[in-house]
Amino acid sequence: MQKQICLTGIKATGMPHLGNYIGAIKPAIDMANTGSFQSYYFIADYHSLVSIHDAKMMKNYTYEVAAAWLAMGLDPKAITLYKQSDIPEILELHWMLSCFTTKGLMNRAHAYKAVVQENEGLERDSDHGINIGLFTYPILMAADIMILNADVVPVGADQLQHIEIARDIATVFNNTYGSKLKLPKAIVSEGNKLLSGLDGRKMSKSYGNHIPLFSSDKELKKLINRITTDSSGPLDPKNPDDSLIFDYYGQFASAEQTLALRAWYLKGIGWGEAKMELLSVLNSSLSGPREIYAELMGNTSKIDLILEEGAARVRPHAQKLISELKQSIGLK
Ligand code: TRP
Repeated sequence: MQKQICLTGIKATGMPHLGNYIGAIKPAIDMANTGSFQSYYFIADYHSLVSIHDAKMMKNYTYEVAAAWLAMGLDPKAITLYKQSDIPEILELHWMLSCFTTKGLMNRAHAYKAVVQENEGLERDSDHGINIGLFTYPILMAADIMILNADVVPVGADQLQHIEIARDIATVFNNTYGSKLKLPKAIVSEGNKLLSGLDGRKMSKSYGNHIPLFSSDKELKKLINRITTDSSGPLDPKNPDDSLIFDYYGQFASAEQTLALRAWYLKGIGWGEAKMELLSVLNSSLSGPREIYAELMGNTSKIDLILEEGAARVRPHAQKLISELKQSIGLK
């Protein structure tokens, strides 16, 4: 029996942070590693183009994201990794789907609505700074998914509306021409826990409270030192469930290590000691990937090759689908 197709897109936004790893990269790689799916993961560079209008930045961000996923264990033989912009058929499908998408549906998309609301709050024109790419972002995402007839799409909870929209668009298309497009199912992984940033808010580059995934030992030490702690003494018992340090630790340590640190907290641990433990566990899980990442970033032609091979695997499927759809529509 053919395996279900699992597909997800990764926006090119530079070196991921620990929150991206725990929330998106790790669950997606774990899911592919179950072996139950045929997996296609791609870099959504055309989606990034909505906001990144600097060629150098676009290139770097793309390499950084690809290198990060590879360094964290994505095996390109098992998971097809490619760049959206290498599959021109996605844009053909984008147009076809556009003609079956009501403007009203796009008006209701959260990401677009948020910018409109922000504009209105600042009493400027409601369309201020909005390009058509932002407005039709969900249609491109639907095309990404339908081009490979994906069954399941692992995403963060913030992307659920986009998957709903993709299903709506496909339904209208199918009602017109008979069932041609598969309706995708979103999978929000249970481990998709939001890791707090250094100041306790959601970890985000824009808040400057993040820990970049491939920070050096020295940088990690500095960042961990920024975590604020209370004034309890080194021998006072501490609550592990109310501690950012413990939270981070639990995401990277083994179950055994986590239990041991929990006991130490309850008995009384110095904050300096807890931070040292965290540093050591981060270093031992991330020093290997850090090296692979540096090697790939120093030799980006390796990344190019992987992405080219990925695209070569995807295009025959994409071409076949477009040819079938053209026949259905009467273009051929
Ligand atoms: N919009 C997604 C995000 O911001 C990225 C994305 C683009 C995507 N195309 C996709 C995710 C297709 C899943 C499927 O994270």
